Amino acid sequence: MADIQAKIDDLRSQAEAAIAGASSVEALEELRVRYLGRKAELTQILRGIGELAPEERGPVGQAANAARQALEALLERRRSELEADQLERGLAAEAIDVTLPGSPAVPVGSPNLLIRTQREIEDIFCGLGYRVMEGPEVELDYYNFTALNHPPGHPARMAQDTFYVDPATLDPELRLVPAPTLPGEVVDGDPLPPGPEDVVLRTHTSPMQVRAMEAQEPPIFIVVPGRCYRSDPFDATHSPIFHQVEGLAVSETITLADLKGTLDEFARAMFGPERRSRFRPGFFPFTEPSVEVDVSCFRCGGTGELPDGSRDSICKGTGWIEILGSGMVDPNVFGFVKANGYDPDAIQGFAFGMGIDRIAMLKYGVTDLRKFFENDVRVLGQFR
Ligand code: DAH
Repeated sequence: MADIQAKIDDLRSQAEAAIAGASSVEALEELRVRYLGRKAELTQILRGIGELAPEERGPVGQAANAARQALEALLERRRSELEADQLERGLAAEAIDVTLPGSPAVPVGSPNLLIRTQREIEDIFCGLGYRVMEGPEVELDYYNFTALNHPPGHPARMAQDTFYVDPATLDPELRLVPAPTLPGEVVDGDPLPPGPEDVVLRTHTSPMQVRAMEAQEPPIFIVVPGRCYRSDPFDATHSPIFHQVEGLAVSETITLADLKGTLDEFARAMFGPERRSRFRPGFFPFTEPSVEVDVSCFRCGGTGELPDGSRDSICKGTGWIEILGSGMVDPNVFGFVKANGYDPDAIQGFAFGMGIDRIAMLKYGVTDLRKFFENDVRVLGQFR
């Protein structure tokens, strides 16, 4: 019996040393099998107790069970230690330094060329003392046409055919301030032409001229960028959705010469220091006189010819590129905001409207308008 006791003690101390020295959870599992598994010596001893002499059974059984329990507890403790160590080491190895940049560096996005061009235009006019304003895209016919001197039935409305909106579909919260009904618009028997209370998708940014003057007394110097809509096809040079920047400058002393100086400055800032601008007579119902404005071509320098003698396709050989419509605000327009401090006999000003899409195409050499709307990253990424 002393032999068995000694064997148990020996097994126990061997196992204790091995467990204390185990360096992984896997090694620990092997030790458990070796010392406490079905074929382990200690297990065999416990199983064989019945064959021992009766007086030996108690002490041997006690010693073997005590050894078994001690080793089980030891295994458990060592396992927790090793697991904690493993976790610790894993955390240390996988630690992320959040102050380092991503790897590989994530490509930076870029603004759409239209937005970028819009910002360039805004910056130029902010530098001249203008303020940037925005207005609604769903607009009353009154602001889009009537108050811009296109009375109901006026043929110039046809040139800006657009999308009409059923006012009943508008959220009452968003419903636009109803405009005054003008006399003389009901024609007996005939269908009514579109009138001031109809609602449209705005065809230009010009309606903000009147809204801004209603909101602020003169002097006023504003630019208004924004999306516009017309019933147009979608091809390389047309789109039913396009972008404009409107300009309005009103005071008691503004003249056509100020318009010329302002647009010369704009042309130089936008298209290069050598640019000049020229006025050609034009027609817009809300300006009098009206002018079409051209800038000297930035590719051929105004000669209409490229260095190899061929015709410059950007300016079609003329040396000039049309960029906007403009003129002196028609006194009839001031008539609609007379009560807001704009007496047509005392006040004057100029207005202009330019297409952002067209200017972006010219400046960045984009030949197909649709490229602005497709959001192809290969196109976007070229303009950072
Ligand atoms: N709203 C005009 C259009 O879309 C452009 C325009 C012309 C705006 C003359 C103006 C202006 O302010 O004075 O065709």
